[in-house]
Amino acid sequence: MSGSSLTWTSEPAGPLQGAIRVPGDKSISHRAVMFAALADGVSHIRGFLEGEDTRATARAFSQMGVRIDRPSDSERIVHGVGLHGLSAPASAIDCGNAGTGMRLLAGLLSAQSFDSRLVGDESLSRRPMRRVIEPLARMGARISAEEGGLPPLRIHGGQRLRGIEYALPVASAQVKSAVLLAGLYASGETQVIEPHPTRDYTERMLAAFGWPITFSEGHARLSGGHRLQATDVVVPADFSSAAFFLVAASIVPGSDVLLTDVGLNPRRTGLLEALRLMGASISVENPRTLGGESVGDLRVRYSPLRGIDVPVALVPDMIDEFPALFVAAAAARGTTRVTGAAELRVKESDRIAVMARGLRALGCALTETDDGAIIEGGRLHAGSADSAGDHRCAMSLAVAGLVAGGPVTIADCANVATSFPGFLELAARCGMRVGEAAAVAG
Ligand code: S3P
Repeated sequence: MSGSSLTWTSEPAGPLQGAIRVPGDKSISHRAVMFAALADGVSHIRGFLEGEDTRATARAFSQMGVRIDRPSDSERIVHGVGLHGLSAPASAIDCGNAGTGMRLLAGLLSAQSFDSRLVGDESLSRRPMRRVIEPLARMGARISAEEGGLPPLRIHGGQRLRGIEYALPVASAQVKSAVLLAGLYASGETQVIEPHPTRDYTERMLAAFGWPITFSEGHARLSGGHRLQATDVVVPADFSSAAFFLVAASIVPGSDVLLTDVGLNPRRTGLLEALRLMGASISVENPRTLGGESVGDLRVRYSPLRGIDVPVALVPDMIDEFPALFVAAAAARGTTRVTGAAELRVKESDRIAVMARGLRALGCALTETDDGAIIEGGRLHAGSADSAGDHRCAMSLAVAGLVAGGPVTIADCANVATSFPGFLELAARCGMRVGEAAAVAG
């Protein structure tokens, strides 16, 4: 089904209740498949995200000769081929909607002996790739892109890479990871320095797979010439998927929802802090470690929210959660100001523009700025919004519908399957009234 053919309706709902586990973390699932594929030995991944993005990454490695078994849903057994064991793919690798897939693969394919080609869907084909091409070229990689540094990417194999010290111009875990993955194959040392610390799953997982790496907040360093050893990975529930429920239960009166096994890596939980500053009632229960990551159960209860100036320092730690935060702001009392978030304009969609249009269509007074928005909280009304094929905007607008004066239709929702298969079922289970309005073959 084409991305533009699926429309949802979201209707005002009563209190949300229940305990749910959202699907596995997308960032960790991508990396688990990649590192397991390049390791010596067999790795077992549990809690793998059955989303289109992460399945595309698994498919990429199958195309390059890696055997990946799927004994059950959310489980993968990856028969690693070793760092130098990949074979040339017979056709282009399709990364689908996934920026993470394409940028990380660009790093590791730069170092292979064979040529490869990375393609993506309409959204990914508009996303900037110069940010990875430039540092990888400095390492000796040869990558060509379309005009403006856009995909498809043609990667010329057989290059000798050398380690670099790279200060990232923007805080990006994808760019950092692409450089580190190329660094596995490079001569000498590769170092990355970030303007603000970003999610450190690549560093943590490389260490778990036995690669010597030194890292601290905003800095990572490794050398080439080692090997990855197979290991088992347990993937926690994705904080970014939990985010829709955190906002929904915060704004629907009487709600009380428990989200279990949620990954709480501090580089991901900025929304928790922002919502608490707004007056949300969210507690972390049963904090523990799962597969080397901090996890906990998040209990969220309705609490009236007030507008805030979102602290700029929180932005990288909640970069994927702004569509949900915009909805919380629209339902809050007072004004919320978002600044320092220009990266939102180059995500799966221009998330500032898409959320601004969507929320304005529901009666919210919202002013776009270059790097954020000024959102006046208040009452929302029934209306029609368009997610522009962006999974996180679609789910966020569905949450807005829960507190609108009447039904809200949201166009172009099929891409929710990229990160959150089963969203509608889980939403229904805790009392949301969101469903498919029309599914026209497209
Ligand atoms: C991701 C990093 C972030 C995030 C994306 C996943 C990752 O992108 O938005 O959803 O897994 O490394 P940037 O690193 O480009 O900010």
